[in-house]
Amino acid sequence: MTATAFRIGGDLEVHRLGFGAMRLPTEPGAARPAALAVARRAVELGITLIDTAHMYGGGANEELLAEALHPYPEDLLITTKVGLTRPDPSADWKLDGRPAVLRDQVEQGLRRLRVERIELLQLHRIDPETPLADQLGTLRDEGKIGRIGLSEVTAEELAEARETVEIASVQNRYNLLDREHEPVLTACEEAGIAFLPWRPVVWGDSRANAEILAVAAELEATPTQVALAWLLAHSPVVLPIPGTARIDHLEENAAAGSVRLTPAHREILDRLAAPQ
Ligand SMILES: NC(=O)c1ccc[n+]([C@@H]2O[C@H](COP(=O)([O-])OP(=O)(O)OC[C@H]3O[C@@H](n4cnc5c(N)ncnc54)[C@H](OP(=O)(O)O)[C@@H]3O)[C@@H](O)[C@H]2O)c1
Repeated sequence: MTATAFRIGGDLEVHRLGFGAMRLPTEPGAARPAALAVARRAVELGITLIDTAHMYGGGANEELLAEALHPYPEDLLITTKVGLTRPDPSADWKLDGRPAVLRDQVEQGLRRLRVERIELLQLHRIDPETPLADQLGTLRDEGKIGRIGLSEVTAEELAEARETVEIASVQNRYNLLDREHEPVLTACEEAGIAFLPWRPVVWGDSRANAEILAVAAELEATPTQVALAWLLAHSPVVLPIPGTARIDHLEENAAAGSVRLTPAHREILDRLAAPQ
């Protein structure tokens, strides 16, 4: 039986199937009420883990979530990320892990999310120009961060980071057909670290793949639900954060938690992308 809950950092309990807010439109106008409705529906559906980042709209995504959901339900974890900057809104984002930048983005996140503490703060990327221990030490010493996570790291970087601070989560690109980061997932599993795969939906591929379609037909599920159910079954530390701006897709994704793959289905799906 696949566990439906996970304790991040050993104590912060969330439902494993989360929601990625990155694709919610944040501009004023017709799309905004729909975006607010998607965030609210996520919580109604029992989702207790929502992922955002300073980079998503330069804080606009954090603001949207606060507008939709504040005051927050007790069991809701909104996790955000810091570590990318742009000199002005028309410029490209670039890595920036200088302590003053990280502290400023954390402060902005606290303000925009309207919280006094960020229970899980992820370093969006490691900045190679700043010593990793300084980036993580800054977050550890900030005083308003409950737990620290990483994003897009190798197993070696994860090990190095763990020499400085306790790492509660890792967010890497990973899905049924893209298992480049299997060694990182294995390291997370061994250490009980939450692994939040981004791009979990596999986009068009899951809907075009004959094996996934066949499993989906047998289970009366959709290919996207099969891809998400496979992630949940693949490792107990996996917490997928599928993103959508559509309520029907959100409901479909949330229902993936009740899709039960048989051992035979898992064998078929496991073979689809051998670990690299
Ligand atoms: N750490 C990082 O570097 C990083 C990078 C990228 C993303 N992320 C995080 O990970 C989350 C998910 O990543 P992602 O958005 O790249 O990938 P994703 O969740 O795998 O895919 C999202 C795309 O799939 C579509 N989709 C979602 N559910 C669907 C369904 N049931 N049927 C058909 N299409 C569906 C969405 O379109 P519709 O809106 O039309 O449904 C959207 O285009 C993001 O929201 C963000 O929080 C993190």
